[in-house]
Amino acid sequence: MAQTATSHQLINLLSTRANKENGLAQDVMQGLHKTPKQLSSRFFYDARGSQLFQQIMDLPEYYLTQLEYEILDRQRKEILFAFKTDSPFQLIDLGAGDGYKTKLLLQELQAQQVDFSFVPLDISPKQVEALLAELPNEFPGIKVTSLVAEYFQGLAWLNQNSQTRKLILFLGSNIGNFAPEEAQRFLCELRSALGPEDRVLMGVDLRKEPEKIRLAYDDAAGVTAAFNLNLLHRINHELQADFNLAQFSHFAEYDPIEGTMKSYLISTQEQEVQVKLIGQTFHFDAWEAIHTENSYKYSIKQLKTMAQACDLEVAEVFTDSTHGFADVLLMPRS
Ligand code: AVI
Repeated sequence: MAQTATSHQLINLLSTRANKENGLAQDVMQGLHKTPKQLSSRFFYDARGSQLFQQIMDLPEYYLTQLEYEILDRQRKEILFAFKTDSPFQLIDLGAGDGYKTKLLLQELQAQQVDFSFVPLDISPKQVEALLAELPNEFPGIKVTSLVAEYFQGLAWLNQNSQTRKLILFLGSNIGNFAPEEAQRFLCELRSALGPEDRVLMGVDLRKEPEKIRLAYDDAAGVTAAFNLNLLHRINHELQADFNLAQFSHFAEYDPIEGTMKSYLISTQEQEVQVKLIGQTFHFDAWEAIHTENSYKYSIKQLKTMAQACDLEVAEVFTDSTHGFADVLLMPRS
């Protein structure tokens, strides 16, 4: 890390223009003209969407958080041992969010008095600002550099500014929201940012009983439905549209052959929706669907194949006691 006067700093690599032009208008323009209609799940995460996602992670049905928490809680020593913490390194958290699970590793690193600096990286300035404010109180003496950046922009910046070893966390099964070809591309790009001693710890939701998966995306309290519908609320707000949220409903189904959890918003009646800022009116038939999200579930075998295709090796697999979730330690193949 470049030498700085303070051990807590926030670096924003996103230009104000990039912040404003988030691509929503283009996604709506293209996606709602398609058959079937679709919108990208990338746009779920405005301030309200991020709050709803935090609530999802606390739901009893959303087992992903509990299982990954169990792995990091019970196997933190083994995970850090596999990485080898005997020389200084950066712990980089891609898509850090509120750091709930990562804090388990931070606790262990401080208990072992390891020399490391923590780099939470997120595209949401709010999330990283909040972490930067609370971490020094919770973990006295911690070195934190918060990065507001796109993943690869952030990694390139880190590579330019430091020679330190890296442990990159990509937790929460975020890889599952990429289509398989995109996930493969993402892994290969991640590989190209790694030095020989760097490692990646990637959280992946594994294939399991289909109904358990489906319920995680269709909870009884309706939080996931609100999260999905918030996309229309966001379009109303940011693009001056007139979606009537009462005339759309959340629908979620799991395809056990593809291993894909698919989420939709269904128009419950025939209607027209105007999106003023892009000058378009979209027609919806009764019961027409907008496909809003895919959450892919993988097997360990599939992960190994994907890793190999990018010249990566699965060094170790840490799973929870039900084998429903895995944190996979990836290393460059020598
Ligand atoms: C962020 N991502 C891994 C979540 C998932 O499980 O696909 C987003 C989510 N969508 C509905 N519930 C949670």
